[in-house]
Amino acid sequence: MTTALDDLTAYWMPFTANDRFKAAPRMFTSAKGMFYTTDEGRELLDGTAGLWCCNIGHGRRRVADAVHAQMMTLDYASSFQTGHPAAFRLANRLADMAPEGLDHVFFSGSGSEAVDTALKMAIAWHKKTGQGSRTRLIGRERGFHGVGFGGVSVGGIVNNRRNYGPLLPGTDHICHTHLVQNAFSRGQPEHGAELADDLERLVALHGAETIAAVIVEPVAGATGVLVPPKGYLERLRAICDAHGILLIFDEVVTGFGRLGTNFAAQWFGVTPDIMCVAKGITGGLFPMGATLVSDKVRQAFRGDAVHGIDLFHGYTYSGHPTGVAAAEAVLDIMDQEGLVARAAAMAPLWEDALHALRDCPNVVDIRNIGLTGAVELAPREGKPGERGFDAHLHAFANGALIRAVGDIMVMSPPLIISEEQVAQLMSTLRAAIEAVA
Ligand SMILES: Cc1ncc(COP(=O)(O)O)c(C=O)c1O
Repeated sequence: MTTALDDLTAYWMPFTANDRFKAAPRMFTSAKGMFYTTDEGRELLDGTAGLWCCNIGHGRRRVADAVHAQMMTLDYASSFQTGHPAAFRLANRLADMAPEGLDHVFFSGSGSEAVDTALKMAIAWHKKTGQGSRTRLIGRERGFHGVGFGGVSVGGIVNNRRNYGPLLPGTDHICHTHLVQNAFSRGQPEHGAELADDLERLVALHGAETIAAVIVEPVAGATGVLVPPKGYLERLRAICDAHGILLIFDEVVTGFGRLGTNFAAQWFGVTPDIMCVAKGITGGLFPMGATLVSDKVRQAFRGDAVHGIDLFHGYTYSGHPTGVAAAEAVLDIMDQEGLVARAAAMAPLWEDALHALRDCPNVVDIRNIGLTGAVELAPREGKPGERGFDAHLHAFANGALIRAVGDIMVMSPPLIISEEQVAQLMSTLRAAIEAVA
């Protein structure tokens, strides 16, 4: 056993090129407001809200105090057949914030868990309502729904799938929404509503009576910010309704103000039957997920088993008191500082600043909505991902945290970002893109 601080071998880091990282580590030691501080004492502007989660910025004393107080008052309480009041209070609050009709909340510990919960609920709902043949789950190419077997099975990112065998049986995927003709769209692209009709193809192939649910991210985040074409989500909703298929929105990154509305469903005016959230719910301070469902879905699980368990599903950390306390404090801050409205107000400036990068070398597309954006670079010949990663490293060395997804530079800053900080982020990205030309 070794305890040397400079020995980095024991920690197998997630989604990381471990050897490369350990040869030249990039370590954070503290964070405050919009900035991380590295172990070299350098400040880095957080262009990614951690990992799409630190929507209220870093180092919020109020949340830390609430968490501390909660831990000293009620550190843990199981949600299996017992409860604690704050979890019920938070569920009511989330139902109030959510699109009309999503009134019931099931807590979990992460986005992946929120997704697997939604998929299981969808299959179980059809069984409860006498349609037990509906077990098929449909995702979308380029979708990301976490890393559980359910989420990976409906996910559409090949590297997340290819090493894990056949995954769940009975899944399929509609086509993604990326069209070259939509390059450099501001906000929602004009072309592609008809891509939703791909669901009709799968209905024709498998039979509607075998399909339980379709899950999509309203804005696909992890694959590099794909904004749905105008009319696409409305059409997907209509096709689901026509065939009795449940529509699940994975709002793990779009929830809690990212688009300038509480949830993307409200931005697009399309309400799913089930909605998955996580990340921003606790501002990244505590792992938590939640699955919100409509009354239609919830009611089917009531009635026939007054004394019985109505859903054989749940997690040790469902409704964890500390997570609930963190979420309540985060939502208080969001309300008091008007952060959702702030994101909406900042979005046009963000869009202009982002699209001003169009003249940079190798830029083949720029996409944005709310306070999220992506700049897609042409890959180096035979070396996909290398240019993007080098740009990430350059930005890191020059004061900003910007993610590279392959050759796509992705940003989703905390909602507290100022006008000057938007300019700083974009000039750091410009310099990085020029450096890797
Ligand atoms: C859309 C979406 N769903 C699910 C997840 C998984 O969340 P977690 O990492 O909390 O399990 C993510 C994570 O980035 C995500 O972007």
